[in-house]
Amino acid sequence: MANKRILVTGGAGFIGSNMADELIKSGYSVTVFDNLSTGDKKYLNPKAKFIKGDVKKPADIEKCFKDKIYAVIHIAGCASTIKSFDDPSADLLTNTLGTVNMISAAIKHKTNRFLYASSMTSYGVPDAIPVKETMPTRPIAYYGITKYSGERYVLATGLRKDLPFKFNATAFRMFNVYGRRQSLTNPYQGVVSIFIGNVLRNEKVKIFGDGKQSRDYVHIKDVCRAWIGAIDNPKSYGEVFNLGSGIRVSVNELVKNIIRAFGYDPKKYPVAYYEARPGDQRHMQADISKAAKLLKWKPEIPFEEGMKDVINWAKGK
Ligand code: UD1
Repeated sequence: MANKRILVTGGAGFIGSNMADELIKSGYSVTVFDNLSTGDKKYLNPKAKFIKGDVKKPADIEKCFKDKIYAVIHIAGCASTIKSFDDPSADLLTNTLGTVNMISAAIKHKTNRFLYASSMTSYGVPDAIPVKETMPTRPIAYYGITKYSGERYVLATGLRKDLPFKFNATAFRMFNVYGRRQSLTNPYQGVVSIFIGNVLRNEKVKIFGDGKQSRDYVHIKDVCRAWIGAIDNPKSYGEVFNLGSGIRVSVNELVKNIIRAFGYDPKKYPVAYYEARPGDQRHMQADISKAAKLLKWKPEIPFEEGMKDVINWAKGK
């Protein structure tokens, strides 16, 4: 494996740094490419080669391909629904153009394996839940539009017959990934760690909308296992997979669970309700039967256990 070098874009961020660690544990060599905008140097695996740069800049990307890259794991991107409305062109340039740039570089350097971080926001308002990969994709957040368009670029490249080699593309529509290293202070990234950060600092918890909206929370370790298991699995070529737990939890339930896990009484802890945010999906839940069938993958970390682990990490344990 050590002769197989994987390029992880966004490898200093929450998902990417965990991915780099797990790849290295599995015996791969890793190059991390990150602009450190939301990523953090302290999460860089010392065994990885680090290249600071931006997916918007082809000259930066070139540096990553000085070594022979066996596969690209493309995770770098702006990951905030709400920010995508405030600054749509930044989101578009990083998520869509950045993906196009990564694909072009992979083709130029004859890297024929490309795995892409898509998002459950690709679905928008699903016709039914749990949502299947075959259901319509009608993203309602600008963020979801850019992630979905990146997904199409990756998969459509996999269909090209004019390339000198077959481009083996896989996309993962990740649901709400949570785990250690998700920011406890960034109000734009991931509700589990936002709430854990709030309760840790004894701050009021803010719920946008009535709190009855629901999400499917999946642990980062389960997510990394799915991606790494797919690298050399031809059944994943040209495919898109939901990565969720298959279980739906409302925001109200989530808040109560977190408050209880800290040993406080949810009835007494300050929680306030605000207007729902634009582009907010109402209910999301993944049908994970395709990943189970083709990747032989099933999530293994129950939500309560995963959440306790994040809380321990947040407390510095
Ligand atoms: C999230 C991610 C997105 C990712 C997607 C699929 C963020 C901001 N969004 O989208 O990058 O692609 O999952 O994995 O990381 N909420 C509150 N109070 C808060 C924060 C959030 O009530 O302080 C609510 C939100 O309004 C939403 C729900 O909690 O209804 C989930 O929010 P969040 O995790 O931020 O974003 P998603 O839209 O689920």
